Amino acid sequence: MSSVLNVSVNKKPAYDIVIERDFDKLAGEIEKLGLTERKFMIVTDDIVSPIYADKVKTALGVDEAGIFVHAFKAGEKSKNMDTVIDILKDMTDKKFNRKDVVIALGGGVVGDVAGFAAAIYMRGIAVIQIPTSLLAQVDSSVGGKTGVDLDEYKNMVGAFKMPALVYINTSVLSTLDARQYYAGMAEVMKYGLIMDGAFYEWLLGKMYEIHDKDADTLEEMIEHCCACKQRIVERDPLEQGDRALLNFGHTIGHAIEKYKGFSLLHGECVALGSVAAAYISWKKDRLSMDEYYEIRDMFVPFNLPISVDDVDPEEIIKLTRSDKKAESDGIKFILLKKVGKAVIDKSVTEKEMFEALNEIIFTEDGE
Ligand SMILES: NC(=O)c1ccc[n+]([C@@H]2O[C@H](COP(=O)([O-])OP(=O)(O)OC[C@H]3O[C@@H](n4cnc5c(N)ncnc54)[C@H](O)[C@@H]3O)[C@@H](O)[C@H]2O)c1
Ligand SMILES: [Zn+2]
Repeated sequence: MSSVLNVSVNKKPAYDIVIERDFDKLAGEIEKLGLTERKFMIVTDDIVSPIYADKVKTALGVDEAGIFVHAFKAGEKSKNMDTVIDILKDMTDKKFNRKDVVIALGGGVVGDVAGFAAAIYMRGIAVIQIPTSLLAQVDSSVGGKTGVDLDEYKNMVGAFKMPALVYINTSVLSTLDARQYYAGMAEVMKYGLIMDGAFYEWLLGKMYEIHDKDADTLEEMIEHCCACKQRIVERDPLEQGDRALLNFGHTIGHAIEKYKGFSLLHGECVALGSVAAAYISWKKDRLSMDEYYEIRDMFVPFNLPISVDDVDPEEIIKLTRSDKKAESDGIKFILLKKVGKAVIDKSVTEKEMFEALNEIIFTEDGE
């Protein structure tokens, strides 16, 4: 089993998302794109590189003399301009020209950094995304957002850079550590919550298969998420409208992530932010109490947190205000009308946020 999704931007075919269980079809895809006579820079990190760089090198099906590997230190701390500049210099040293290609092999950090380097090298060269974390396979590799953090400001500098191809090999998830895998599940559940109630139900029914990383289930799940993201991105490539729905759980989630100094994973913070947003949805009479508790409790079997300790709600609220997506006329909150339907709401007050934070803050007496 394998699948291909065709993404279009402004109604023009833009790129394919190929979903496979190995790298065997990569050479054929490169050939289809007419990219065989090029140099390739495989940008990756120092955890993914030893496991997969050689496999990808072989799978490209081109002269290996023209393939280079640039691995940087894994982790969000590397998502900065220094890392981008190192990549650009490496490409300059190796005489990369406008026709050459960057391959982003890794999680979301690699995808964002390598994609951005490709976007600005000689005003833009092709990038192929080969995402290897669950989060990158279901979210960050699709849609063309690239960039880096600037000091404590996340994703502050960047560019829209559509990939030439997204090649997903689902079997690489076997080496991803469990905590990272479940963090990716928070984004998977997000699609169900904001736009596809039937998919949400499907996920709950496939809980055991998801734990076991069952190959058929992973493929179906990842393909479905890519299709959801693709639908939203096609409608709103530059985030002027509906694309904001993808930020469900992210307003409070990002603030917690920052407050905790990135000791919690992004997906874990998104789970917490999703619980808070569902709570506000209930309090604003959009969801029933039962629906709220059902949503909250569904994160637990996927090993995601629904409460957090040692946070100061006032500080979290302050941080949501400094989020770059904050607008002068109120924070753009994404709330749920029901499982499968989200809306943008700018009327959420700080008092409502405070109550929602108290709901997710873990206290000694177990509240
Ligand atoms: N561009 C977008 O649209 C978008 C969307 C969502 C998130 N993001 C960004 O994505 C980043 C988070 O991505 P992430 O969670 O993938 O983090 P990550 O890239 O840091 O990867 C997580 C960890 O898993 C390791 N890893 C990845 N694949 C592996 C594999 N197959 N086997 C073993 N180890 C593996 C990495 O080395 C890393 O240590 C954040 O910077 C976030 O801002 C971007
Ligand atoms: Zn996210």
